[in-house]
Amino acid sequence: MTRLVVNASNKKSKIHKEVYGHFSEHLGRCIYEGLYVGEDSKIPNKKGMRTDVVEALKEMKLPMLRWPGGCFADEYHWKDGIGPKESRKRMINTHWGGVLEDNSFGTHEFMELCEQIGCEPYINGNLGSGTVQEMSEWVEYLTFDGVSPMADLRAKNGRKEPWKVKFFGVGNENWGCGGNMTPEHYANEYRRYQTYCRNYGENRLYKVAGGPNVDDYNWCDTVMRIAHRHMDALSLHAYTFENNWDDKGAATGFSEKGWYKTLKNALYMDELVTKHSKIMDRYDPGKRIALAVDEWGCWFNVEPGTNPGFLYQQSTMRDALVAGVTLNIFNKHSDRVRIANIAQLVNVLQSVILTEGEKMLLTPTYHVFNMYKCHQEATLVDSFVETKEIGDLDAKVMNLQESASIGEDGKLHITINNLSVTEGYDVSGVLVDWDIKSVKAEILTNDMGAHNTFDNPDVVHVEEFKDFKATDKGIDFNIPPCSVLHFEVE
Ligand code: AHR
Repeated sequence: MTRLVVNASNKKSKIHKEVYGHFSEHLGRCIYEGLYVGEDSKIPNKKGMRTDVVEALKEMKLPMLRWPGGCFADEYHWKDGIGPKESRKRMINTHWGGVLEDNSFGTHEFMELCEQIGCEPYINGNLGSGTVQEMSEWVEYLTFDGVSPMADLRAKNGRKEPWKVKFFGVGNENWGCGGNMTPEHYANEYRRYQTYCRNYGENRLYKVAGGPNVDDYNWCDTVMRIAHRHMDALSLHAYTFENNWDDKGAATGFSEKGWYKTLKNALYMDELVTKHSKIMDRYDPGKRIALAVDEWGCWFNVEPGTNPGFLYQQSTMRDALVAGVTLNIFNKHSDRVRIANIAQLVNVLQSVILTEGEKMLLTPTYHVFNMYKCHQEATLVDSFVETKEIGDLDAKVMNLQESASIGEDGKLHITINNLSVTEGYDVSGVLVDWDIKSVKAEILTNDMGAHNTFDNPDVVHVEEFKDFKATDKGIDFNIPPCSVLHFEVE
């Protein structure tokens, strides 16, 4: 019997809902087709936004959405995406597939989408190829209430009232596609650009500085040293591959070895977050500044026959486990990780939704986010599970991994993952300082490569889990192989 201990009276940090955030870029079929089909489409929509997708995202309680990129953000000139659609400037999306971007989805459309979903917008400004004035005017256009050149332009385009925008990114991956800058250069540019991103009226911006790529600790240290006084968050980007950048591995049809290698790479997030956090502690011991892991998730080879620049991939039970373990890691680091955005929302990389014409399916990753929504705005509590090392010779992972919180609903929520492809485990759960009134559980489990297709969209789905027994100390249960399990305890 393996022991799981949850100590309900040892309360830790709040798990901010924005940790469950998502990312939508003008890339492949994410925005166009995935989210926005236009008002004249045969696909049911409200003001051009797909009704089926919006409804699924509301159910999942999508808390925050980042836009317009990504690499696209540092090439995006927001004024091209406002005003009458027929006169909007057309451009080539040089980063992603070299396709025509007609700018029919711009600021007003994005804010409309967020309103329909009921989520916070997170807008990423252009520092790489834009000007200080352009970024400053975008903030004015979005949030200024009164008479001003940008507020007047907004009103002329049909929106008198300002929007409320909190999260604002100042550049993206400025060590790479966002201008190939050195950390010193970016940090000084960041200081300059953010100065003119004003707080108008009651709107308060929460400024996110462009942070490191994976384990670039020098970038983290330098940007913190030069600019920490001027930021609310520092971003971190870290993707999970099976192998490496040059051969990311296939999204489906992988081996057991491929399963364990990928999960090992996903678990590396714990080390990254711990080490970056330690560096941030030097400049910000009170943890005022959040670490925003605003791009994470599985990045595999594109599906055969699809445009390589569109980054379209399937999502299997392996992606579900990557999501499950990564979100547990973020929960456990919620004192510092207060924003995270999986990449990307629909039809790109580790999506929660895939679409094909009017068809839509929910991926295993969707189901994990839906199960874990109980942690949004909850209080992390101390938890521990006994583990053993399993896996492949060059890819050892822990067999079990968990986190626990007391939700806004006052209930105790435990999410626990079994990373083994073949073995189930008997677990004896001890709940310290918690009088059990009732227990409910749900599970996502299937073969490692199982996934949903448009012909068979319900292969992987959440089921009620009954294989447990409430005891005088807690809960005893058997967790099946390859599963994500959620207990709700009252
Ligand atoms: O999510 C795809 C791309 O990955 C983003 O545009 C970029 O920021 C990152 O390199």
